[in-house]
Amino acid sequence: MSFLETNWDNIQPPYGVYVGAPVGGIREPSVASWTHDNAGMYMLLKCIELFKPIKVLEIGTFDGFGTIKIALTMDYSDDCVLYTIDSGGNYDLVGVGKEAVKIDDPDGWERVVERRNKHLAVNCRCAVKYFEGVSREILGVVVHKMEHWDFCFQDSVHIPEFIIEEWLLYKNSSRVGSIVCFDDIKSTNGFIDYFETNEKNWVTRQSDIGHGSFWAERVK
Ligand SMILES: C[S@@+](CC[C@H](N)C(=O)[O-])C[C@H]1O[C@@H](n2cnc3c(N)ncnc32)[C@H](O)[C@@H]1O
Repeated sequence: MSFLETNWDNIQPPYGVYVGAPVGGIREPSVASWTHDNAGMYMLLKCIELFKPIKVLEIGTFDGFGTIKIALTMDYSDDCVLYTIDSGGNYDLVGVGKEAVKIDDPDGWERVVERRNKHLAVNCRCAVKYFEGVSREILGVVVHKMEHWDFCFQDSVHIPEFIIEEWLLYKNSSRVGSIVCFDDIKSTNGFIDYFETNEKNWVTRQSDIGHGSFWAERVK
């Protein structure tokens, strides 16, 4: 049985995690509403805690709120590395329009960058490597540097065509046992059909908890 099949129940948030203070030790809240989705964050961190990946890829850093939570969870080995990429706010290059990334902070992107720098500077056992650029341009370069990834948190844009475009750039750097979590995907998102039709070497799980997520583990 794969890790996901064995541990799916173990990573489900306990009743009551859906509301209240953010999970984890970071006191300053994110400027965006999505990282206050405690159920989703709970599942992500619980999976990392149990699965213990060494090389993690995060696609979509934003203000680094999720990044530092993941990095602090990866405290089980000196070899841990978290690679995280973001377009850095250059929406024209992202190609999906500003509305795809909702910034709740009235001070806008400057404040996001300030927070990101602060989060990325937090001292932790895991090495955190931030790369700035649009995924279609830098994702291939980053996964080449990584050689492979054990766990990936895809959290840039959640439109099927876009997720597929990114997926094709990093899927070949997975290994048997690698796990990917596509964030902010409900069962109605067409990407799930695409993945289940085309990726027969992966077992999948889907959750409509919080803003939803779709998970897959490579088994062949
Ligand atoms: C939902 S936020 C990420 C939230 C973050 N993972 C967290 O947990 O706090 C999405 C981020 O993806 C970035 N993004 C959107 N399209 C991108 C692209 N094509 N390449 C790289 N980053 C992109 C945006 O700049 C934004 O910061």
